Amino acid sequence: MSSSAPASPTHAPTSSVAAFDARYHERFARSQWWRDARFGMFIHWGAYAVPARGEWVRSIERISKEDYEASIDAFTPDGVDFGAWADLAKAAGMQYAVMTAKHHDGYALFDSAVSDYTTAKRGPRRDFVREYLDAFRSRGLKVGLYFSVIDWYRSDFPHFGDRQHPERDNEDFRDHQPDLESYRQFMHAQIRELCANYGRLDVMWFDFSYPGMTGEQWGAEELVAMVRELQPDIILDNRLEVSGEGKGTIVTDHPSSYAGDFVSPEQIVPPTGMTCDDGTLVPWESCLTLNNNWGFHADDHDWKSSTTVVRQLVECVAKNGNLLLNVGPDAEGTIPAESQRILREVGEWMDVNAESVRGCGSADLPKPDWGWYTRNHADGRVFAHVLEQPIGPVALTGIAPAAVAGVRVLATGEERGLSKSWTTSNYPDVSFVSLRDPEEHTFPLPDPKDTVLEVRLKD
Ligand code: GLC
Repeated sequence: MSSSAPASPTHAPTSSVAAFDARYHERFARSQWWRDARFGMFIHWGAYAVPARGEWVRSIERISKEDYEASIDAFTPDGVDFGAWADLAKAAGMQYAVMTAKHHDGYALFDSAVSDYTTAKRGPRRDFVREYLDAFRSRGLKVGLYFSVIDWYRSDFPHFGDRQHPERDNEDFRDHQPDLESYRQFMHAQIRELCANYGRLDVMWFDFSYPGMTGEQWGAEELVAMVRELQPDIILDNRLEVSGEGKGTIVTDHPSSYAGDFVSPEQIVPPTGMTCDDGTLVPWESCLTLNNNWGFHADDHDWKSSTTVVRQLVECVAKNGNLLLNVGPDAEGTIPAESQRILREVGEWMDVNAESVRGCGSADLPKPDWGWYTRNHADGRVFAHVLEQPIGPVALTGIAPAAVAGVRVLATGEERGLSKSWTTSNYPDVSFVSLRDPEEHTFPLPDPKDTVLEVRLKD
């Protein structure tokens, strides 16, 4: 073992990791499929696609619900093809999806007996939630719904002085009296409809809590009891307590009944992953936009590259987390061409390398300079994600040569034993793998996005 290698011998999980694993898997058994899938599609779609300035347009521009009616009436996406969305998610290598059933504007994309402010009773007169669920299920994808517990359409929801309500500083609403009990009953009724009328739901993504509007202000205990009764296997995010900020009681040793099943960091990949206060792992999912908006924004062309997306996905997995990647279809229901191109390119990488992501997590190895390690929890295979062109052979830092049974380059399928190049002879304790011959030469990475090496360990 060379002096530069990390403290712990590295080819078998330490006992504490095993203990971690046992408690972690037991506590979070419900989300096993989700933690194996690792990669999902977030879909922000609704009447806000009409003004095409993002899903917060009503709040940012303080648009009254009367003036917003024009967007509601203009939202008639007759040509929307949910099958094409599902095919794109599949092509990208995603295994689950979460679509907005209702966002903060309160306009529901499903048929509701307690509201006429829906796509089933207005504009397109279609139950888009049902169509989305049918299309995605038919492609074998797990299905989730995003539901905003904030509703800017409801007159019983706080207006004046609220942190983000469109009428928050409109003097005409200074005397407005919210009626939270009435609001809770309405909100619970809609969530009951979604949990009772649409078959099995795999994920419910509530959004979001803020000071003064959290937990029991939503009637969260009663709400989650109802949801779990109707959907026993469903997994919930942590936003009946917090938002993209904060973790909630899920990370404490006294989680509330509505703490959720995963933490939901937003627009960031947690620098050191996510753990509970006692150091044990906690499931988490980073939700990221492909540009800088969740809902369709016609002027936002700051698209991430497919290389960035692949590398962020791998980083999430290497830190035991998921990536929920967003698309914002336009008012016709078309996913922007740039989003489609990026997702298809990610899919080309996943077609070759999905086994280094699915069913994988951290490898309990030191982070290598050239990229990341992931490990398949079931069979122990380690995957080296080489992001930087190596000079000569790649040094598999942290893995002793004696521990290596074999190495395969996923991009080429080629078996490449450990390198015996003279350039590496000074470092007998380090495993080296060359990607091509002659071993001393430096070549472009077979896949510049991320060249993955499968490292099989002896035991
Ligand atoms: C935030 C935004 C909301 C978005 C959500 C997605 O809560 O307010 O618009 O839907 O993040 O993570």
